[in-house]
Amino acid sequence: MSRIRGWPVTLNEGPVGLRPLRLRDAGALRTTRIRNVEWLRPWEPTHPEMPLQSSSIAPYIAMIQAVRKEARQGIAMPWAVTYEGAFAGQLTVGAIVWGSARSAQVGYWIDSAYAGRGITPTAVALAVDHCFLAVGLHRIEANIRPENRASRRVAEKLGFREEGVRKRQLHIDGAWRDHICYALTSEDVPEGLLARWRRRSDEGERGRPPDGTSSPGDTPGSPSSRPGRP
Ligand SMILES: CC(C)(COP(=O)(O)OP(=O)(O)OC[C@H]1O[C@@H](n2cnc3c(N)ncnc32)[C@H](O)[C@@H]1OP(=O)(O)O)[C@@H](O)C(=O)NCCC(=O)NCCS
Repeated sequence: MSRIRGWPVTLNEGPVGLRPLRLRDAGALRTTRIRNVEWLRPWEPTHPEMPLQSSSIAPYIAMIQAVRKEARQGIAMPWAVTYEGAFAGQLTVGAIVWGSARSAQVGYWIDSAYAGRGITPTAVALAVDHCFLAVGLHRIEANIRPENRASRRVAEKLGFREEGVRKRQLHIDGAWRDHICYALTSEDVPEGLLARWRRRSDEGERGRPPDGTSSPGDTPGSPSSRPGRP
């Protein structure tokens, strides 16, 4: 299959945006990843052509060219995550398998300066809804290292199902790492993932004491998890 139905596309929810990664993002990608190299190192798959940190712009241009080629081949959707229009990170729906599977894997990272605002769950919800409703995918996985509490919270807050451990699945930070497989199929979110995320956040806000202190069970609506909190 070539070309994906529903690609390229730009998606927005409040201040959070997803837009196709473009060649002129190479500069922002380079400076952001250099600034965040220690933040990303424990979680980013090792990619021989895309070091976590490089002073040269060339590997970043090469990476963008590679993922844009995958998009043309119908096997990836590489987005820049934006916040109030500024480059804030990346979200890629990749490893797309068509045929009887119609499955994919979502990967993401965000500049540490933007962490804790609910940007990533909002971006994942936008992407998943688009994949299920417009693109025609049926199953999306997020594979996350057991040690990655922040990323597991993203999957848990969105209601991804935990399906088990994939032993030594990806090479990260010098070794083959186990990953927990989280997944959703389109049947799991008949109301849409963004609607679910908004609802859970609103419920959490309503359950929050007036002084704003947290209470047990209010995790989905904690200030850090509100969709696209400014
Ligand atoms: C995982 C990641 C994408 C989450 O993005 P985010 O936009 O901050 O997501 P959220 O705002 O929903 O926060 C998720 C969790 O991060 C943690 N968190 C919140 N603020 C944080 C901060 N300032 N710094 C670090 N972690 C923080 C909290 O545990 C939060 O969960 P909670 O809402 O239950 O409190 C981001 O932490 C990141 O880019 N990490 C490095 C790369 C990475 O791990 N990628 C994913 C690989 S599977």
